[in-house]
Amino acid sequence: MTAPANTEKVRRKPLVLGNWKMNGDVATAEQLLSGLLHGERELPALLAGVEAGVCPPFPYIGLAAARLAASQFGWGAQNVAHFDNGAYTGEVSATMLRDLACTWVLIGHSERRAYFGETDAQLSTKVEFAHRAGLVPVVCVGESLAEREASKTESVLAAQINGLCTALASTNERFVIAYEPVWAIGTGLTASPEQAQQVHAFIRSRLVAGSVPGAAGARIIYGGSVKPSNAQALFGQPDVDGGLIGGASLVAADFLSICRAAALRSIR
Ligand code: PGA
Repeated sequence: MTAPANTEKVRRKPLVLGNWKMNGDVATAEQLLSGLLHGERELPALLAGVEAGVCPPFPYIGLAAARLAASQFGWGAQNVAHFDNGAYTGEVSATMLRDLACTWVLIGHSERRAYFGETDAQLSTKVEFAHRAGLVPVVCVGESLAEREASKTESVLAAQINGLCTALASTNERFVIAYEPVWAIGTGLTASPEQAQQVHAFIRSRLVAGSVPGAAGARIIYGGSVKPSNAQALFGQPDVDGGLIGGASLVAADFLSICRAAALRSIR
């Protein structure tokens, strides 16, 4: 890895997003949301300097919107259609997510790429539709264990980023990248802070090379077994601008403590 660390003095507000995936039911969603609100009441300064939100399954986004409306937490979706509107049974459009006042939408999560065969071309279209609807696309990239072991991390990420540069350039600097090494997702294995930093700096350098406006100010967040015990070290790295949290976002106290770790980054 040769990419230099980000040395530019650009202030990037840390971002922590909870990716609930396909977990829970209405009762656990209510419980989790009230846990977040309780944490915010107990510690009103918790989210000072941090942006935080949850991405529930589609059926519970409206619930999250209702419960979190008066809070500092935002909400978003885990996926969006690569079609505008019309006869696409089972899909949810970017404008529908806007109607639910979503701020963010995850695009190209490795589970979507692996289980639903999402292609780079589809992801670019999703980024464009999301942006047009006023949503912030959170584009996920990452290498598999086999790719890392074969020293292909940089080439895999370069290909993923290159395929997205045109779409990202069209977002008027309103996008987020989530680096999620596939081998670290839900496995308990986490990239070390140094590994994460190297890759984040590399991703930023690819955005610059791809002439994506706002590359220096773009938030690149890390995902893959982030927990209260490792969040602070990860967020202490200069190019790790927050986290995309899976398992630990299902426990309100853990998610809140990860938000707190991100807040420490913002006051460094
Ligand atoms: P994890 O998931 O935190 O459970 O590893 C992260 C993600 O897939 O977004």
